[in-house]
Amino acid sequence: MTSLARSILRDVARSSWMAPLDPLLRRAAFAATALRKATDPTLPHAAKLALDRCYVDGRPLLLGHRGAMARAPENTLGSFQAALDDGARGVELDVTLSGDSVPVVLHDDTLDRTTNIFGKPTDYDAAELAGLDAGSWFPGWGPEIVPSLGQVLQSMPAGAVVNVELKGPTPAYVGLERRAVDVIRAHPAVHVIVSSFHPAQLLEVRRIASELPIGLLVAEQSFLPARTAWTAPLLVPDAIHPPARMVDRSFVDGCRSAGLRVHVWAVPSTDEAARLLDLGVDGLIVDDVAAMAPLFSDAPAS
Ligand code: G3P
Ligand code: MG
Repeated sequence: MTSLARSILRDVARSSWMAPLDPLLRRAAFAATALRKATDPTLPHAAKLALDRCYVDGRPLLLGHRGAMARAPENTLGSFQAALDDGARGVELDVTLSGDSVPVVLHDDTLDRTTNIFGKPTDYDAAELAGLDAGSWFPGWGPEIVPSLGQVLQSMPAGAVVNVELKGPTPAYVGLERRAVDVIRAHPAVHVIVSSFHPAQLLEVRRIASELPIGLLVAEQSFLPARTAWTAPLLVPDAIHPPARMVDRSFVDGCRSAGLRVHVWAVPSTDEAARLLDLGVDGLIVDDVAAMAPLFSDAPAS
């Protein structure tokens, strides 16, 4: 595709002409999800029960976004430990595939921004990625590796919650769902929630691992159905993962009526976190865990 065509498509996708319709369409999507839940006996229940077990005494989850990315190099073992030290119940991380098809933890399509080399993760084996420096770019930190998903899950304490966000889908990441599921199943002591912006990836996870909770990531005002809640009735996820700016009373009520948990990301401030907790959301995925943690000591159980 030419870069002109790509930029036109991107502009259309990001346009806000759908904005007035968004809340209406979302409400319809949540109502249809509730209907499907009430009438489809083939829907699995194990995933919902697994998700319920993530909340201690029904209290909301505090998850560190890419670890503790406000104060540590994102998606590294050091960052995940920092998030736990700062009071998170677990972490969110991003997973792609290495050249030898090992799920590895990296946010971008390339290694350029967060490591000491340039290129794509698929240009390197997992062992080679583990030899890179993904930490020194962050002020005050030394070397950290690009870890595999298995290394991260192995490093987490039993009972921790890990939100595994699948990146892609692109041809380079074909098979990511199966590979990630195999790794997740090998670490049953950790509570995993699999999320993605791409419903097709979550459908595949549900097909091959109906016991795993899935969270549909959504973004506002997008022309692309894949980035809205429109696909919820088809997918019937266990949770919706919206950015904070999308979440208001009607959003939370819609999710509640459909039996969907709400885990919110892109939480810009403690004021915003307090507003979301007051609305009764089920979890926050935050950059600055230390700043948010005090709010969770007295957050009400849902
Ligand atoms: O899972 C929430 C958030 O991580 C989604 O966006 O780009 O930070 O992976 P991104
Ligand atoms: Mg992410």
